[in-house]
Amino acid sequence: MLSVEENALLTQVGPGTPGGDLFRRYWHPIAAVLEMDEEPTKEIRLLGEDLVLYKNRSGGYGLIERLCAHRRVNLAYGIPEENGLRCMYHGWMYDETGQCIEQPFEETVRPESRFKDKIKLNGYPVQPYGGILWAYLGPAPAPMIPHWEPFEWPNAFRDVGFAKLDCNWLQCQENSLDPVHLEWLHGYWGEYQQKIRAESQGIDKVLVNTNPLNHQKIGFDIFDYGVVKRRVVEGNDETHGDWTLGHPALFPNILFVGDIIKCSMQYRVPIDDENTMHVTLFVYKAAEGHEIPDQDRIPYFEVPLHYEDGKVIADLVNHQDFVAWVTQGPIVDRTLERLGESDRGIILWRKLIKEQIAIVQDGGDPMCVFRDAEKNKSVELPLERWPGMGKNERYSGGYVPAQAGEEQSDIDRIMETLATWAGATPSG
Ligand code: FES
Ligand SMILES: [Fe+2]
Repeated sequence: MLSVEENALLTQVGPGTPGGDLFRRYWHPIAAVLEMDEEPTKEIRLLGEDLVLYKNRSGGYGLIERLCAHRRVNLAYGIPEENGLRCMYHGWMYDETGQCIEQPFEETVRPESRFKDKIKLNGYPVQPYGGILWAYLGPAPAPMIPHWEPFEWPNAFRDVGFAKLDCNWLQCQENSLDPVHLEWLHGYWGEYQQKIRAESQGIDKVLVNTNPLNHQKIGFDIFDYGVVKRRVVEGNDETHGDWTLGHPALFPNILFVGDIIKCSMQYRVPIDDENTMHVTLFVYKAAEGHEIPDQDRIPYFEVPLHYEDGKVIADLVNHQDFVAWVTQGPIVDRTLERLGESDRGIILWRKLIKEQIAIVQDGGDPMCVFRDAEKNKSVELPLERWPGMGKNERYSGGYVPAQAGEEQSDIDRIMETLATWAGATPSG
């Protein structure tokens, strides 16, 4: 149970708040590179700030305050020019730093005017990496975008999904320090939801999300980049990879989960105190002897939260997590919760956040801020082998192109499946 003040400290992300200062030490994924090729402006709300992301005609990116300094129209409706974004109302133009660089009428009637020099919107750096655009809202100099190993796996296929969730980011992240929910939310309730869905669709076959896992023991260890979560389930012991390797929650807001051929990185990006953009990078390795072409653009998709009939999607693993997080409310009232043994990881994560906030307040770099290129080369992470993976021989060494007699390759199938999010990597 927390005090009102502690809950605010852990959940607030706006400018000037301790948590906001912490989050402003990291690069955040805000869009797919491909998205900006299709539509060169996009409204972004990040850490409580309303911004517009744009791609200029020279191929550069800008992320600046959303409302024009002149008379406050929305610059997402502006025109990307060679070196800036032009407001559609009276033609003022801004560069990627937010500096106003043109004021057509002002310059016509008073050519000597330096009025534009005094006009500056907030502007933040944007960098492409791994097919994703990343933004940094913190003090200069900006650190490096972490090159976690899934971004660097060779001969792998990637795509990225975006889900807008009406809840604070910490509700999503605390789930990643809570192994026991796998057994209940994804096991027992998941099966129940799958049965309901199958019946409503008149389908006999019921898919089961997970093996029935009865947790016997859970453990958590702080490591360089966050916390490794471990579990022993009935039938296994401490020699199993679930315990010896576990899988990590990366500070402050990432889950890494999967196995050696398929994994996901889940970023819980705070839009503001009450909303989160859940960004998931999926990575699929090709089987040995098969080549996947390099991707300079990766496919992206918006994750639907409801079926066409309006019902909440609750029979798929990631959606079960979404339902749990969102139903806790916009910001869960942690003054009323009653924590037990299953919550030791959550308590540890909260302690870590407070410690890292203190480091930032003392002028230091918190966990997972990279400034040394040598240390930022395909950063290796602990990786749990998921139960059941490897049982299917076809997938034991990676994904393969279409086999004789098959119309679709694995990659085609994944793309199709991902369109409904049904093939999402188990989370837990
Ligand atoms: S409101 Fe943008 S130029 Fe006038
Ligand atoms: Fe989960």
